[in-house]
Amino acid sequence: MKAGAGLFSALALFLFMGAVFTQRPRPRRPTKRPPTTRKPSVLQPYIPGEPEPQEPTDFPPVILGPPSVFPDCPRECSCSPSYPNALNCENRNIRVIPLIPSRTHYLYLQNNYISEVKADAFKNATDVRWINLANNRIHQIDKQVFEKIPALLYLYVQRNQLNEVPSGLPVSLEQLRLGRNHITKIPPGVFNKMGNLTLLDLYHNQLSDGDLGKNTFKDLKGLMQLNLAHNTLKKMPPGVPSGLIQLFLDRNRIDDIPKDYFEGFTHLAFVRLNYNQLSDKGVPKDVFNVSSLLDLQLSHNQLASVPHFSGNLEHLHLNHNSIESINGTQICPYNLQVDLGDHSLVPRLRYLRLDGNHLSPPIPLDVIMCFRHLHSIVI
Ligand SMILES: *[C@@H]1O[C@H](CO)[C@@H](O)[C@H](O)[C@H]1NC(C)=O
Ligand SMILES: *[C@@H]1O[C@H](CO)[C@@H](O)[C@H](O)[C@H]1NC(C)=O
Ligand SMILES: *[C@@H]1O[C@H](CO)[C@@H](O)[C@H](O)[C@H]1NC(C)=O
Ligand SMILES: *[C@@H]1O[C@H](CO)[C@@H](O)[C@H](O)[C@H]1NC(C)=O
Repeated sequence: MKAGAGLFSALALFLFMGAVFTQRPRPRRPTKRPPTTRKPSVLQPYIPGEPEPQEPTDFPPVILGPPSVFPDCPRECSCSPSYPNALNCENRNIRVIPLIPSRTHYLYLQNNYISEVKADAFKNATDVRWINLANNRIHQIDKQVFEKIPALLYLYVQRNQLNEVPSGLPVSLEQLRLGRNHITKIPPGVFNKMGNLTLLDLYHNQLSDGDLGKNTFKDLKGLMQLNLAHNTLKKMPPGVPSGLIQLFLDRNRIDDIPKDYFEGFTHLAFVRLNYNQLSDKGVPKDVFNVSSLLDLQLSHNQLASVPHFSGNLEHLHLNHNSIESINGTQICPYNLQVDLGDHSLVPRLRYLRLDGNHLSPPIPLDVIMCFRHLHSIVI
């Protein structure tokens, strides 16, 4: 390569993965944060290295703490005088949910052996806002449970054994995490009237196309994050709310995207379709030309050409596809000849991954000419 063409030899590979993966939209928070340093999403595996008990008789005994200054504090939980609204009952080998004091707003029950949530489980906890039941053995949640807790905002039940989305969920709900269960069924109408739900996580279940109807997500007008990754979908989910910011569909079997799928999406910024079966045939050329899109991930598919994208896109992952050549003039969101002088018309693309394709350096001149903000390209 000639001297002076240093820019072009910049297929030096800067992997700013951290930067890429930490750029997520911040979902709206509930007005009151849980007054504890423990976040519901933090999962501490229980006794790492120990084999997981299989039978109830194998379960280790419940861990009881010392008596609390609060007479209503269950012995299998701890109650901090500084945070009277939080009840911490995680990592205690609990099998049956204790009687929850009515002052509780934030309830931490993750990493236990709870197998069932019965109708009266929270009968006196009418003000509860957050419940974390992650990493238990729950296969059944009685639908009457939620009648007693109408103010619930966050419900985390990931890493359990549910076979379907629980019914009777409160319409006040803002976040629902059901990832890593065995869900094969979404009962009709379970998400009805849940206009405040911003996050729905159904990651790593066993959902297929037949489980998602065109009305499944109909009422979720406030939804911002939808995660359906790691299921067995062959088609794009129908009727997805158009206010969505983040759509994750990695590790499905999707081979086709309808031409107008993203039409009307005004805030969509993050789309992940890594590890699917997309080829040029199933990806209409302009389907990802969505002006709000910032981060598009299409790695580990079978694409032979680069789809069109808008000048606003910042990160593009196309690694591990079947791309043989790349023509900068064709993929440039703006007309190179006409718009070269106009600084507002410089595409924002900063990070491009093309490794694992059938490409070899050097990077074509027209790619460098077009994408002048590109500071990391991996071939
Ligand atoms: C239920 O809550 C009420 C106050 O709301 C309280 O007086 C009562 O003792 C509680 N019952 C139990 C069993 O904790
Ligand atoms: C949805 O959120 C708004 C604003 O926080 C609130 O006024 C409304 O009552 C909530 N709707 C439900 C069904 O909880
Ligand atoms: C992408 O969409 C914009 C309008 O949103 C349009 O002007 C442009 O021509 C489209 N690009 C391609 C390659 O279709
Ligand atoms: C790239 O595409 C443009 C426009 O379609 C064409 O004129 C040009 O010859 C192509 N460049 C290469 C290297 O094939």
